[in-house]
Amino acid sequence: MAEQTTKPLAVVTGASTGIGYELAKECANSGFDLVVAADEPAIHDAAQTLRQLGAAVDAVEADLATLDGVDRLYAAVRGRPVDALLANAGRGLGKGFLDQDFDDVRRVIDTNVTGTLYLLQKIGRDMRARGQGRILITGSIAGFMPGTYQAVYNGTKALLDSFSFALRHELKDTGITVTCLMPGPTETEFFERADMLDTKVGQQKKDDPADVAKTGFNAMMKGEGDVVSGWKNKLQSAIATVAPSGVMAEMHRGMAEPGTGKQ
Ligand SMILES: NC(=O)c1ccc[n+]([C@@H]2O[C@H](COP(=O)([O-])OP(=O)(O)OC[C@H]3O[C@@H](n4cnc5c(N)ncnc54)[C@H](OP(=O)(O)O)[C@@H]3O)[C@@H](O)[C@H]2O)c1
Repeated sequence: MAEQTTKPLAVVTGASTGIGYELAKECANSGFDLVVAADEPAIHDAAQTLRQLGAAVDAVEADLATLDGVDRLYAAVRGRPVDALLANAGRGLGKGFLDQDFDDVRRVIDTNVTGTLYLLQKIGRDMRARGQGRILITGSIAGFMPGTYQAVYNGTKALLDSFSFALRHELKDTGITVTCLMPGPTETEFFERADMLDTKVGQQKKDDPADVAKTGFNAMMKGEGDVVSGWKNKLQSAIATVAPSGVMAEMHRGMAEPGTGKQ
């Protein structure tokens, strides 16, 4: 257990790899102590590296798809004021919906939506009682487009993007800011875990998670409402707001249908 310091505290979920790990590094480099969480033992290795950046770090191995897992993360905060909550844990799921295993479908929804909202409500209530706090939610530009061959995942991100904007407005004048980070395709373990390595998007060159995290962290610190990382993604999300859904759904097929990648 990390000793108590006078530094501000950030809670980062999904901090073992990818964007979440880089977000945790941004926090540590900016003087936050950390409570970091993920579902696998790799979170302890990540915590060790983050400690070398000068942060006091508590690592929690918990399945954030479950309310119990979220309760365990919340308990690890030990009543300390949370200055920043970076709700980032999430997972994708490729292939056609009718070919997916329903347990996997449910896990995507429970991780990306149910566990995330439960944690946001618990820590958000504490922030409201103190009249201050910063919240960063990792949504996605995927939330702007129907995700042919990632249908459930894109649906969860549509919920998170929308929820984030709404919560921000519910909390205006409370001292709490809500920022939605909307990355485009990013070089992490995401596509392998989603079984999408045979797709065009799984194989194409993607954004650097460190750059994406820096963009999101800076937006959170400035209290901005939303940020899309990278000009290509900005363009794609702008097109998605005016193009018919059918056009976007076909475009998504071209990058996410199994076999669209090189053999
Ligand atoms: N990569 C992209 O192209 C992209 C684009 C837009 C948005 N995003 C979003 O960015 C976020 C981070 O993804 P990433 O790309 O960095 O992928 P990643 O490298 O696979 O990282 C996902 C993180 O979430 C954790 N996680 C997943 N399910 C969990 C669960 N049930 N309980 C606790 N922790 C869990 C993972 O830890 P464990 O290994 O321990 O489960 C890992 O730390 C996700 O919300 C994703 O939807 C990614």
